[in-house]
Amino acid sequence: MRSISVLGCGLMGAGIAQVCATAGYPTLVRDVDQAALARGRASIEKSLGKLVEKAKLSPADRDAALSRLRFTTDLAALRDSDLVLEAVTEDLALKNQLWTALDALCPPGTIFASNTSSIPIHAMAAATRRPDRFVGLHFFNPVPLMPLVEVVRPAAASRETFDRSLAFAKSLGKETVVAKDAPGFIVNLLLVPYLLDAVRALEHGVATVTDIDSAMRLGCGYPMGPFTLLDVVGIDTTVRISEIMFSEYQDPRYAAPPLLHRMVARGSYGRKSGKGFYDYSADPPVPAALP
Ligand code: CAA
Repeated sequence: MRSISVLGCGLMGAGIAQVCATAGYPTLVRDVDQAALARGRASIEKSLGKLVEKAKLSPADRDAALSRLRFTTDLAALRDSDLVLEAVTEDLALKNQLWTALDALCPPGTIFASNTSSIPIHAMAAATRRPDRFVGLHFFNPVPLMPLVEVVRPAAASRETFDRSLAFAKSLGKETVVAKDAPGFIVNLLLVPYLLDAVRALEHGVATVTDIDSAMRLGCGYPMGPFTLLDVVGIDTTVRISEIMFSEYQDPRYAAPPLLHRMVARGSYGRKSGKGFYDYSADPPVPAALP
């Protein structure tokens, strides 16, 4: 791979662009407007800054990574990419609108990869004429810190596409696991019911947000409790993932509890909106009043 494009520079897209640029790839980031691009660039700068502070990255490597990043609102600018990595909202119609447009723009050799958490890859590949060159590369939040990429191999993907995608993920310094193209892959298949069960436990009055978080952190050695993690992943994203998984499996374990819907309606999306199960305007964050 010589040139990488990242579609979308929200929480995941910005992190993915950052790790690509840090690994040495010229990386083009595309989002719908300048404001979104500016937010993405600021979050990359902040994240690289934290790595420098912790001496995990040298200032020279930070500057080199930043110099490899370019930003655009023009979809046509992605036409010369060897790999397009998509990290836009979990909305199949939106994703497929972009994939169909890119399929017409990009040469046949370009590999398409989605960072979707829950949408089957084949449902996107079908919107293109290159299902043999379409895979899933699923990163974890926060992308610069989490070592894993799930490499999702749809039945139609060619051996060469899969091998190159796997090698690319490893070249970012990530550990890889291979998953079948089924909603949730490995991690979300197990993680989503756990997160939703924590919300159900809260709704049933089992314990407080902080006690449930402390229980899983201190009792099970998880780095974060489920509510802290829900705030990191995003309440809106969790609801969207749950809806997709529920519609696929028809299993109540994947049904988002009403509290999450009320939080989304109120704009409590978690860390990214400043408030979720915790209120991030306080330092350290305090439990938020829930709707
Ligand atoms: N870039 C981005 N974020 C960074 C960062 C960097 N360079 N360095 C730290 N962070 C973030 C943390 O989220 C948090 O934010 P604030 O400082 O702003 O409060 C903070 O920085 C914590 O920093 P620490 O220095 O204390 O980091 P840590 O050593 O405690 O590790 C962690 C943080 C790696 C995130 C750890 O807590 C962890 O492993 N948590 C679990 C995360 C997890 O499970 N992620 C998967 C989510 S599921 C998913 O992403 C898939 C999906 O499809 C839903």
